[in-house]
Amino acid sequence: MIENLDVYNFKEHDQEEDSEIISDLKNSEQKKINSKHFYDEKGSKLFDMISELKEYYPTRTEIEIIESQKISFRNKLPSNASIIEFGSGSNKKIKKLLNALNNPKEYISIDISYDFLLDNAKEIAKKYPKINVKAICADLYQLGSISKIVNNNSQKIGFFPGSTIGNFSENDAKKLLLGFKKILGKGNFLIIGVDLRKDRKIMEQAYNDSKGITAKFNKNILNGINNKIGSKFDVNNFEHKAYFNEKKKRIEMHLISRENQNILLKDYDLKIQKGESIHTENSHKYTSEEFEKLAVSSGYKKVDFLTDQKKYFGVFFLKVIGN
Ligand code: TRP
Repeated sequence: MIENLDVYNFKEHDQEEDSEIISDLKNSEQKKINSKHFYDEKGSKLFDMISELKEYYPTRTEIEIIESQKISFRNKLPSNASIIEFGSGSNKKIKKLLNALNNPKEYISIDISYDFLLDNAKEIAKKYPKINVKAICADLYQLGSISKIVNNNSQKIGFFPGSTIGNFSENDAKKLLLGFKKILGKGNFLIIGVDLRKDRKIMEQAYNDSKGITAKFNKNILNGINNKIGSKFDVNNFEHKAYFNEKKKRIEMHLISRENQNILLKDYDLKIQKGESIHTENSHKYTSEEFEKLAVSSGYKKVDFLTDQKKYFGVFFLKVIGN
């Protein structure tokens, strides 16, 4: 038992999610898997490894921005606040943020992978005994349930790092920003990390690392699907592919079938042709102006924009205006 830690679990195995997985795979235009399925325990650990790779600049750059511009965090954001992290992943960034802010009093950590979430929340609760920690196992489509746990009296700072916002289509990104706004409430803040558009080669290398960890991570989504719906995808029958789609301004990640294969999805026989792809991830890359426009059209005001010397990555401080 840890005094300053409460745990909530909203993520149970549900039938609806299973049918969603199957209908996405059956999609006749393009077979897909929702990228939230990357983050089972093994996937979360693999992603942690990605974040350490020399080719994967976003994590390193975002941390460097927080570290080197601590003063902005301390001066422009409220003290004694409740920090709500949407999709926590590892503790690397939140520690930097908690250290930069003035006397944060609560940390609400939301993540999709239960064991991973719990281990990380325990570490924070022990390291920061004065902070009340709430660990919520949920995905970002469950913001309604999450809002019930958030206390309405304190000043709030939402934290959405890692350019996870880029993993949503512009439409869905807007919906998500509207959802965060509801939880945060008028006058409160959102710190959001956004990967900025840059030289194509640099972006593509970040998703095609030389050690093949990203390929492993991409393929591991199939193991997650096997566990969830009892299918028998063999990861060795697929190849990793990631490239920048110029028109859509996003990195796309796919799994390409090495042969003609049939996969049983519960009672449906899915045919996959040699060379056919399953689309697993998008990572939209914005200019700072484009992202600001999206934030403003979702009811936020830009309070500050921090970036690194090379302008690879942006950290926005947004303030909720209106309701
Ligand atoms: N939010 C991260 C990004 O878009 C997620 C990510 C990084 C990722 N590398 C990946 C997702 C590789 C799938 C595969 O950069």
